[in-house]
Amino acid sequence: MDPYLLGLRLEGRRVVVVGGGAVASRRVPALLDAGADVLLVSPKVAASLEDLAAAGRIRWEARGYRAGDCAGAWLVCACTDDHEVNAAVAAAAEAQRTWYVRADDAEASAAWTPASGRAGDVRVGVLSTDPKQGDPRHSAAIRDAVVAGLQSGQLSARHGRGHRGGVAIIGGGPGDPGLITVRGRQLLAEADVVLTDRLAPRSLLDELRDDVEIIDAGKIPYGRAMAQEHINAALVRHAQAGRFVARLKGGDPFVFGRGAEEVLACLRAGVPVTVVPGVTSAVGVPASAWVPLTHRGVTQEFHVVSVHVAPGDKRSTVNWELLGGSSGTLVLLMAVERIGAVADELLRYGRSPDTPVSVIADGTLPTQRTINSTLEHVESRVAEEGVRPPATVVVGDVVSIAAEITELMRHVTA
Ligand SMILES: C[S@@+](CC[C@H](N)C(=O)[O-])C[C@H]1O[C@@H](n2cnc3c(N)ncnc32)[C@H](O)[C@@H]1O
Repeated sequence: MDPYLLGLRLEGRRVVVVGGGAVASRRVPALLDAGADVLLVSPKVAASLEDLAAAGRIRWEARGYRAGDCAGAWLVCACTDDHEVNAAVAAAAEAQRTWYVRADDAEASAAWTPASGRAGDVRVGVLSTDPKQGDPRHSAAIRDAVVAGLQSGQLSARHGRGHRGGVAIIGGGPGDPGLITVRGRQLLAEADVVLTDRLAPRSLLDELRDDVEIIDAGKIPYGRAMAQEHINAALVRHAQAGRFVARLKGGDPFVFGRGAEEVLACLRAGVPVTVVPGVTSAVGVPASAWVPLTHRGVTQEFHVVSVHVAPGDKRSTVNWELLGGSSGTLVLLMAVERIGAVADELLRYGRSPDTPVSVIADGTLPTQRTINSTLEHVESRVAEEGVRPPATVVVGDVVSIAAEITELMRHVTA
């Protein structure tokens, strides 16, 4: 017989898990996500389960299974590696008419655990009709394909119940389309209108349905200051017309991204708005070039600075004296055109001329390249190499760690 699929609503309901190994470590977090009141019975448990018990999220009886442990349970999971114990647990559950899952014997289980996943407000479960013969990786692969399809918008759940409204300000990460968050991708797939930036991961736009209106905010022809007002107005106008608007930005919307200005504009107009954090280029780009921003014994701080105005410019609010005197890592955005002035300022305030500097252009993109230099020579190297924005500049001794990593990488084949 085919299994009958059901979604168990476990909130506040007792689930007894017997066994504390790898299977229980996978099942228990999912049960907690469903709000279950978990009783774990096992003499020893994996560290992650011990942490859950210490945090008071589950009750752990540190002993072997005993008759009576299943009393009051709505669901029982027999997850030990001992066939006889699992059989005894299953028999007790069967006798009291409680559903039970046996990790060691699908045929002897009253219920089967599907390969499950989530995409937005959709929960997906896949069961092989013959888990004894079937390969569990097959169910997991189908689950992954469905979830990925929903997340990318290739399988659309948009026309289902309750169409979304308002605006989502989405951080798209530094450029590689794989670096947007799952939530960002889901909301993008549900949008009626998408306003993109120049540095947003634009290859994601190819995945959108044909009826989605795409507005290139980089092409709004009003100059820098006015353009932002037009973007704000467009967000509000489309949302007020009942469309769900995705504002796709590069990196994180709240890191030199003017995301908060867009949030304020929406809220002032009474438009509901949500923000999806993104991987900021300040952190993601150095990592993509193997540059750690902190390293034990090297530095315990990093500073992220926008150099959209040069040191000495009266609009600058950066304390270059403090940065020059510190030994922390400096991450400089929008610095390429002003790198000479920055280097001079840091040297003036105490940084050593041979401080390593890494300039990473087109980070995370197929065209990524890295120029390594020192504070003394970085300006001429950037000019020689013809480095163009976008680039992220890292100043500090951590750059040497990247050199060590890349050297070792050359000897390690995938
Ligand atoms: C206006 S700021 C936006 C920052 C963005 N909100 C973030 O969190 O990454 C733009 C600057 O970010 C840096 N940047 C953005 N994308 C980059 C990339 N793919 N590679 C290197 N730097 C990048 C450059 O310094 C660029 O000039």
